[in-house]
This record gives sequence, C-alpha cells and structure tokens, in this order.
Amino acid sequence: MSSALMQTYARLPVTFSHGAGVYLYDSAGRRYLDGLSGIAVCGLGHAHPAVTAAITAQADKLLHTSNLYGIDAQEELASTLTGVAGMDSCFFANSGAEANEAAIKLARLYGHNRGVEKPAIVVLEGAFHGRTLATLSATGNRKIQAGFEPLVAGFIRAPRNDIDALRQIAANNPGVVAFLAEPIQGEGGVNPLDPGYLQAVREICDAQDWLLMLDEVQTGNGRTGTYFAYQGMDFTPDVVTTAKGLGNGVPIGACLARGKAAQVLGAGQHGSTYGGNPLACSAALAVVNTIVGEELADNAAAMGQVIRDTLRADPEVAGKIAEIRGAGLMLGIDLGRDCAGLVQRALDEGLLINVTAGSTIRLLPPLTINEGEARELARGVAELIRALP
Ligand SMILES: Cc1ncc(COP(=O)(O)O)c(C=O)c1O
Repeated sequence: MSSALMQTYARLPVTFSHGAGVYLYDSAGRRYLDGLSGIAVCGLGHAHPAVTAAITAQADKLLHTSNLYGIDAQEELASTLTGVAGMDSCFFANSGAEANEAAIKLARLYGHNRGVEKPAIVVLEGAFHGRTLATLSATGNRKIQAGFEPLVAGFIRAPRNDIDALRQIAANNPGVVAFLAEPIQGEGGVNPLDPGYLQAVREICDAQDWLLMLDEVQTGNGRTGTYFAYQGMDFTPDVVTTAKGLGNGVPIGACLARGKAAQVLGAGQHGSTYGGNPLACSAALAVVNTIVGEELADNAAAMGQVIRDTLRADPEVAGKIAEIRGAGLMLGIDLGRDCAGLVQRALDEGLLINVTAGSTIRLLPPLTINEGEARELARGVAELIRALP
C-alpha cells in the first residue's frame, strides 16, 4: 500500500482501532496485551474513564484560548504538579523534546545571568533527550545525530555513573552551568544511574553552582515506583522535565523548576502557542490526580516485582536472561544478544513489547495493570525467551 506519509517510522503491520485498560484491539477485532503503553504514555491504560470525562467536559466548554490570557486549568495543573514534585514553578510545552528545550534554554539563561559567555551543559553517553536540533545534540547516540550536523554547540559528554570523570569536567570547563540526565536511560537500553552517583552529582552541582536537571520524560508520572524517579533517591534536582505519561495520550510536556531556577525564564523569553492549553491541562490534571489518588506508583513497584519474579521463576528462562534492569514498570530484560526479532514474534502472540539497544526487551505496561495481567505479560515474554535457540 502506498502512503502519503514521510517514511520516518519503521512500522509494525498492525493498526489498532480501540483499547480498554491494558488491552488494545486491532481493526480485525484481535486483542493484544499492551506491554508498552504507547512507549510509557498511557500509564492509566486505554480509555480510562477519568481521562475521558476530563477531556469531554473540557471539550464541551473550551479547547484553546492562548497564553495571552489566564488559563484556570493551567494554573491548577501547575499548582498540583509542582506540589507533587516539590518544585516551585512550571512551564508547559507539548512534548518531551520541547520540555527539554525549555530546560536547555533555562540553563543557558541562568549561565548568561551569571556572566558565562558560552554556557555548557554536561550530558551523558547513551542519553536520549529528543529529536529537535538542541535535544538531538544533547542525545548520546550518533545514529540520531548523523546527517543533521552542524549540531547545536554547548554540550559536554560524560560517561555514565563515573563521578571522577564529572569532577574532571568541572575542573577543566569553567563554562559549565548545568548537568542534564535521565535517572534511568530509556531509549539507551534501560540503564539506571546509581542513586549514589546522582547524590554525588548533586554535591558537585552545589559546589559549582550548576543546575541539576533531570529528564523524567519517560521515568516520571509514577512509572518507576515513585511519582518522579528522584523521589526514591534522597536528593532533589533544580529542574525536572516530563511529558509522555503526563497526558495519557493528550500531548503535553512540562519543565518544572525550583529555588534559583524557578524564575529564570521571564516574560517573552519562552513560549508555545499550544503549551498548557485548557484541553491538555484538564486531561493532565485528571491523570496526575488519578496516579496520586489511586497510588499507582506503588502499584507500579509491586507489579514490576511480580513481572521480575515470574520471569525468574523458570530456570530455563532465567538462564537466558543476562540482567533485568530498571525500576517499577520500566523494565529492561537484557538477553545479552540481538533479539530485535522478538517484537514481531510477540505481536504474533498478541503481545506488545519493544526491544531497545538491540538486546534488551523493554516493558512499559500501564501502571493500572493488575496481578493477573502482570503475570500474563511476564509469562508471554518468558515463552518468547524460552523459544529462543
Ligand atoms: C527520556 C526522554 N526524553 C525525551 C524524549 C522525547 O520526547 P518526545 O518524543 O515527546 O519529544 C523521550 C522520548 O522517548 C525520552 O524517552
């Protein structure tokens, strides 16, 4: 079939018509267990009544005005989200990349305000921060950058979990103004940063007057067992970005800041036509209130353990797993060998999974998954692993 689309995606041969909870249904009516949530987006599953109600009620009143005017839902969401995050202020965008663009601009302005002529941001090997020019330059993957040079300057690459390397960067680069990283790298293969490393990064940031900025686009909104991943790690960043699970499918991103970072961006220095519009904010408010009210981060922690235990229960399957990484319902099952073909085989079995970094099965099921469904997902994945030669 010819398509009028630019061929930017290698798509699987399936089209879904509707969903309910952790299940999706294709146009022929076949049911699939969704182990991916649209890549960590539909944390509340599909057709969640609270989100549907919020969207329809808002659509009945007002979809969009403009950031030229006050927006009640935006104020309420900012107040709720900063309260949950322990932050002071919030800027709304429409995607993860845009949330990170806001953080990058904030860091540069913070540097310029301190008299740094060419502010630089430390970013990590294996990072993924988005596809816009600045965020792909911050991304630590040559495949994503190739062909789009010249890259945006002002990023210094550091190895993961290596605090001595960061100390060296600090000693040799007076222009550094911020550190930006995902607490658990998602696209890079589900690679967690050590809490001890991040706490030491916090100390360096304090000593150097750098902003500690976390990209929680994928890890945020209950995914890893706490609302934000840093909330299980005993330190607080200065800036946090999030998107994906914040809107459960309605596009929204957020850049949250605290303390000295909270009021860096002023009138006219950043903006977005759609950012924080009434529709997106009403949906996100329902999402945040449901995640908090129904303690879905706790459920993510518990169901993540069920999946791990089920995968480990069969010695034959466990023997083929090199490592299980991640936290809560962000799981990377590293098989130590190429397993990209499993995605199609899973689809044939009615299971939606993903493979990242070539050898790691990535699971990101809805946070609402129950124990029976978590076991069904883990057993399905176990069968795929068992069938490997
Ligand atoms: C950690 C992280 N940051 C940023 C992004 C980019 O988000 P978006 O695709 O919404 O621009 C992603 C998307 O996968 C992500 O995982």
